[in-house]
Amino acid sequence: MRVGILGSGLMGGKLGTLFARAGHEVVFSYARSEQKLKRLAQDAEGKAWPGTPREAARDADAVLLAVHWSRMDDVLKQAGDLSGKVIVTCSLPMNDENTDLVLAHTSSGAEELAKMVPKARVVCAFNSVPSEVLFGVFEARRKASRPSLVYCGDDRRSKELVAGLIRDVGFDPVDAGPLRIARYTEPFALLVGQLAYEGKGGPELAYRFERFGRHQ
Ligand SMILES: NC(=O)c1ccc[n+]([C@@H]2O[C@H](COP(=O)([O-])OP(=O)(O)OC[C@H]3O[C@@H](n4cnc5c(N)ncnc54)[C@H](OP(=O)(O)O)[C@@H]3O)[C@@H](O)[C@H]2O)c1
Repeated sequence: MRVGILGSGLMGGKLGTLFARAGHEVVFSYARSEQKLKRLAQDAEGKAWPGTPREAARDADAVLLAVHWSRMDDVLKQAGDLSGKVIVTCSLPMNDENTDLVLAHTSSGAEELAKMVPKARVVCAFNSVPSEVLFGVFEARRKASRPSLVYCGDDRRSKELVAGLIRDVGFDPVDAGPLRIARYTEPFALLVGQLAYEGKGGPELAYRFERFGRHQ
């Protein structure tokens, strides 16, 4: 697949690199320096290029949206028409200072995003994992036991595509249901961030759902 990265920071830079290493074509876009985008593309060790947000979105099968909420309007404007595109968002709805949750259980960042781009197909994924563990998960992906990663969205085919990307990064995808479930996964993601960066475990803390019920 071709994946356009909108926001090539901690999340976009790492996930884009891993998508390229897993064999996808990747266009890195939206950073404050073009040099950084070039370096990311070079270091990705796969088919990867630097580009503008418009170039990243143009022929993409999926775009990863990985910006702080305060940059959302700007990056969407630069990306242009996203009608029909699968948008994977890991962006969390925080205010300009990125300290307070702006939206709560009556909506979610993912649902607000879907209203901003009504003709796109939004899937919420990757927000519940600290970026620091992504390379480690990818390296361990052939082990029998993979960490689980929740995702949600309303369009079945887009979700299948995103589940494939989640698998390629090394996780076991767990379908949490329709997009409105982001009302619960986004605050959960903030809890994960709190534990990872301010708790005792650090980013290495592994987040894993155990299956309840009978063992086969
Ligand atoms: N980091 C995590 O572990 C994590 C985990 C789960 C969810 N999230 C969520 O994912 C989203 C992205 O987080 P992140 O940590 O990846 O953020 P980040 O490292 O700050 O990345 C944001 C990207 O946007 C770019 N950018 C910012 N202002 C810009 C401007 N004016 N013009 C062009 N580019 C600009 C940054 O450029 P530069 O590269 O030049 O700085 C960077 O590439 C956030 O909503 C966050 O809440 C993050």
